[in-house]
Amino acid sequence: MKFDTQATTNPIDQLKVVGQPVDRIDGPMKTTGTAPYAYDRHDAVPNQAYGYVVGSAIAKGRIASMDLKAAKAAPGVLAIVTAENAGKLGKGTYNTARLLGGPEIQHYHQAIAVVVAQTFEQARAAAELVRVDYARTQGAYDLAAAKDSAKPAPGFDGPPDTAVGDFTGAFTAASVQLDATYTTPDLGHAMMEPHASIAAWNGDTLMLWTSNQMIDWGTGDVAKTLGIAKGKVRMMSPFIGGGFGGKLFVRADAVLAALGARAARRPVKVALTRPLMFNNTTHRPATVQRIRIGAARDGKIAAIAHESWSGDLPGGQPETAVFQTRLLYAGANRLTATRLAVLDLPEGNAMRAPGEASGMMALEIAIDEMAEKLGLDPMEFRIRNDTQVDPEKPARKFSQRQLTECLRTGAERFEWNKRDPQPGKARDGRWLIGMGMAAAYRGAPVMKSAARVRLDNKGIVTVETDMTDIGTGSYTIIGQTAAEMMGVPLHKVVVRLGDSTYPVSAGSGGQWGANSSTAGVYAACMKLREAVAKKLGLKAADAEFADGEVGSGTRRVPLAQAAGKDGLVAEDAIEFGDLAKKNVLSTFGAHFVEVGVDAATAEIRIRRMLAVCAAGRILNPKTARSQVIGAMTMGVGAALMEHLVVDKRHGFFVNHDLAGYEVPVHADIPHQDVVFLDETDPLSSPMKAKGVGELGICGVSAAVANAIYNATGARVRDYPITLDKLIERLPSIG
Ligand code: MOS
Repeated sequence: MKFDTQATTNPIDQLKVVGQPVDRIDGPMKTTGTAPYAYDRHDAVPNQAYGYVVGSAIAKGRIASMDLKAAKAAPGVLAIVTAENAGKLGKGTYNTARLLGGPEIQHYHQAIAVVVAQTFEQARAAAELVRVDYARTQGAYDLAAAKDSAKPAPGFDGPPDTAVGDFTGAFTAASVQLDATYTTPDLGHAMMEPHASIAAWNGDTLMLWTSNQMIDWGTGDVAKTLGIAKGKVRMMSPFIGGGFGGKLFVRADAVLAALGARAARRPVKVALTRPLMFNNTTHRPATVQRIRIGAARDGKIAAIAHESWSGDLPGGQPETAVFQTRLLYAGANRLTATRLAVLDLPEGNAMRAPGEASGMMALEIAIDEMAEKLGLDPMEFRIRNDTQVDPEKPARKFSQRQLTECLRTGAERFEWNKRDPQPGKARDGRWLIGMGMAAAYRGAPVMKSAARVRLDNKGIVTVETDMTDIGTGSYTIIGQTAAEMMGVPLHKVVVRLGDSTYPVSAGSGGQWGANSSTAGVYAACMKLREAVAKKLGLKAADAEFADGEVGSGTRRVPLAQAAGKDGLVAEDAIEFGDLAKKNVLSTFGAHFVEVGVDAATAEIRIRRMLAVCAAGRILNPKTARSQVIGAMTMGVGAALMEHLVVDKRHGFFVNHDLAGYEVPVHADIPHQDVVFLDETDPLSSPMKAKGVGELGICGVSAAVANAIYNATGARVRDYPITLDKLIERLPSIG
């Protein structure tokens, strides 16, 4: 099905199942521990051996020599795979050749060997016996120092630079100006489930039970890396314990399990240990962001510029932190620039809302600072610069844009009018109290997505698609979609996901998953409805599907009977035309935060949070709310705690475990409230939905920073906002 004209009324609009806050259909499996995660698949294949990954102890240079003798002789060892004996690895679409390093070393903890043994303990003990001599060379590890050598680099969905009008002229002439630089640190995904895979060779076919967001990308890249046909790789990832972008691509666990299984001639399972994950896999790269805004006294932005610098390994990608600034606020004279420096740190890549999450951390503090200079309420300043058209290309309209409505709804609900705009004035005992807000913005991309739907002679509808559920609720919203389309209750639907033998879906990434994958199910169900109607001699357009029956006029046939003895099956994909290019499809929101800062110690506590989101049709308010509160929590982490600390001499992240890399725990997070505005977007898909999983993080950290400023009068422009950055700057006590 091609989606290239605005959606009209369709079966989804009945909202009998879709749009309802139903419980997750996979919930009981999760809560009873029966959901099969990759590393737990003891049942998948007999005779599993264990692989233990050895990471490089240097960041850049060469392996001078590697002595495997003692390791090979250790108890239980079956095989040791290194770059020397693995054979040539292909590059993949994503750079998978890097997943086994040597003799060249590209980053710290790059895998250089996998030791395979009978037991995990034996593999680990033998790995300790691998002797490596390195010839270390000097690398570049400091973004601030490498910044001047940075070059323009395109992001995966846009040009590095844009310019409209005369920024410099308008900025210089503006009566109120802001020129400020913000920094965000390297951040880790820190998902619960580590990267883990079990590999088994069945003849020349590779079976891979793994944890991966994008089955089709992964299957293709494993095949290219190993030099085998894509059809010879079967990848299964039905349950994923969090990904956040860290599992968009195959990692060392999958490739090394496959190589280990080939060498040991038996199935091999590999999980990355937690201390290896931070430097072995990807992370959200640090940024330096300079923002300049010029405005007239009436608060209208005349000039806005956003420049961002980040670093990555040679051939890598920038953090596209300026992208939202191209679209979020009006202003005739504009400039954005994305610069990428070569760094020899572990690879930077996508993490929840890549680009916008980092960009909004800076932009939404800048907007707060500018509002203060103008003597305007920060909400009012945002509303004055709202726009219904793309500010860079005014011929393009936003399909839906309720930013102002989000801001006003949030302000009323949060009692924003109780905030004292003078910083440092509100007290509650020992706490300095502050309120802050920020806009939320994230694009709403769409991706081709296919599904297969089967109706059997018991009236059960089974959906198969290689879509993944990374904790988001895909199983449930896909089930709801099929139930709505076929007119059956949700418990009559079986959803099967995450298997490369199923039709290729959009996968989970870029907050495109919910809308795209359910639209693919919609397309397949449309075909199935046609097949059912045809079988009964009905016109598809006249056939009504409701209460487990199909019919027209007074004739009603149970679906089970309509399916016939052999059942009916249909498969289709949703393919998106250029509606998302002719219009701007985005999601909007507003974040409100209240903090308390200890007047003596500068300890920061979040007291209340609210997010208001306008993101198209909400397919399931319960799963969507969970996405947003999770994202808000992650935004608090980025604001106050999370920071991969770079060792600038040796080039690695020092705090590479969950003791040193702090993320918020339950006790850090207070009451969170989430409101979804009523919205349907007929330009987004037949579902009229978008996505919220990434919207929810965009802007949160800045709202926290702005609340801390309101509490203390101290403006911190370098994340995370830890108490050492505040303590010297607190208002004097007494
Ligand atoms: Mo997302 S960071 O594209 O999984």
